[in-house]
Amino acid sequence: MSFKIDAAKSSGALTRRMTLGSVAAAVVTGPAAAAGAFPPGFIWGVAASAPQTESASGRGRSIWDDFAARPGAIKDGSDLAVCNQFEQRFPEDIAIAANAGLRAFRFSVAWPRVQPTGSGAPDPAGLDLYDRMVDAMLARGLQPWPTLFHWDLPSALPGGWLNRDTAQRLADYAVIVGRRLGDRVPGIMVLNEPGVVAILGHAMGQHAPGLRDRRAWAAAMHHQNLAQGLAIAALRAALPRTVRLGNALSLQPVRAALPGAEDAADIWDAAWNRAYLDPLYARGYPARFAADLNPLIRAGDMQIIASRPDFLGVNYYDRMRMIPGPGTVLGATWGPSPPGTPTTGLGWAVEPDGLLEQLRTLRTNYGNPELLVTENGAAFPDPSPAGGVVTDTARIAFLRGHLQAAAQACAEGSRLRGFFAWTLTDNFEWAEGFGPRFGLVQVERPSQRRVPKASLGWLGDCAKLNSIV
Ligand code: FCB
Repeated sequence: MSFKIDAAKSSGALTRRMTLGSVAAAVVTGPAAAAGAFPPGFIWGVAASAPQTESASGRGRSIWDDFAARPGAIKDGSDLAVCNQFEQRFPEDIAIAANAGLRAFRFSVAWPRVQPTGSGAPDPAGLDLYDRMVDAMLARGLQPWPTLFHWDLPSALPGGWLNRDTAQRLADYAVIVGRRLGDRVPGIMVLNEPGVVAILGHAMGQHAPGLRDRRAWAAAMHHQNLAQGLAIAALRAALPRTVRLGNALSLQPVRAALPGAEDAADIWDAAWNRAYLDPLYARGYPARFAADLNPLIRAGDMQIIASRPDFLGVNYYDRMRMIPGPGTVLGATWGPSPPGTPTTGLGWAVEPDGLLEQLRTLRTNYGNPELLVTENGAAFPDPSPAGGVVTDTARIAFLRGHLQAAAQACAEGSRLRGFFAWTLTDNFEWAEGFGPRFGLVQVERPSQRRVPKASLGWLGDCAKLNSIV
């Protein structure tokens, strides 16, 4: 079943992350010309984050703990207290990824574990944990790629992203982590999907901190952009240039869902994609947000934000199709995909050619930057394990289609250096709770037993051959 326009119109609370009743079979048709081979040294990895996998034990509170405590905020009523206990079980999870053949692990450092209140002296136990995690990855032949901020903002920071001071706090934290891990990691992603934090968290109320306010949205946008600029400058001063610095952005090509919805599409492309991409490359903010942003921008900010990162991380899931959203904070909302478009278990369109389109746009319109696909994957209702394996053919088909798109982009001249599948283990999918399963490994609850899915072995085989199998 694909998105129904009636549902979109009648439910003011339509969420991109809503689960639809049934799932279309993922018949994936990749780009015809894809050779399926990748340049030498292509990085094959998995991606995960601390708040979705670690338990809350031993860390300070984050705004996601606060948000999950609100009745009704998380679909299944779950919270972040236990998750996958990755902070204890990482040796096993790292071994599972490495034994399958993968060669890189994108993980995130929990800011409230390193600085429980978001500023001041670091907690040595928190830093030690990530030190051991990095060593465990290296010992297993996995490149460790830390993300510094994957949405778990320390609750104690006054005003959160509404407060300009939070940008400097993030830069200080970045240097603490950079100094500790920078001698062993090939690269660092400072922010994960600042646009999703700003839009879902501050304009739509679906994510922490649960606001629906245009001024809050604009502040979250600008202060996160400023934070990455300050952090990248500080890390460049503190670390050797061999440590590649970037951000992982959610970049999804946008279309009008219906004739007449072109302005809604432009609003969304500006708010979701260009408000984060353009200023990194010194192009400033989309002009249509000038009235929102001018009161926030101080002299020198745009130069700081134009960090010209060493690489750009692309988190791609699907295209976004928009309709006008009268009465919404941004004035646009999600509409239907074309009839017949296959969807995942979350109702997200399966569109591998959208990844190719996005990578081409970055090549032709943004000076062909060095790229990593830092997230791509899908939640499907997996079959029960049989013979110790979950046979998740739909996920393999999904990944195959997107890897074909990635290979095609490489063949056309994109400087794409790697692909990280989202995600290693089934985990806490934000406001959706534990319902959607994105993992290459199933996690049984409450036993925490890990059961590999066929997609793990398949992706590992691709990694071993540096080619789609
Ligand atoms: C992205 C997030 C990631 C995960 C995937 C499914 O927006 O970065 O944490 O939830 O979606």
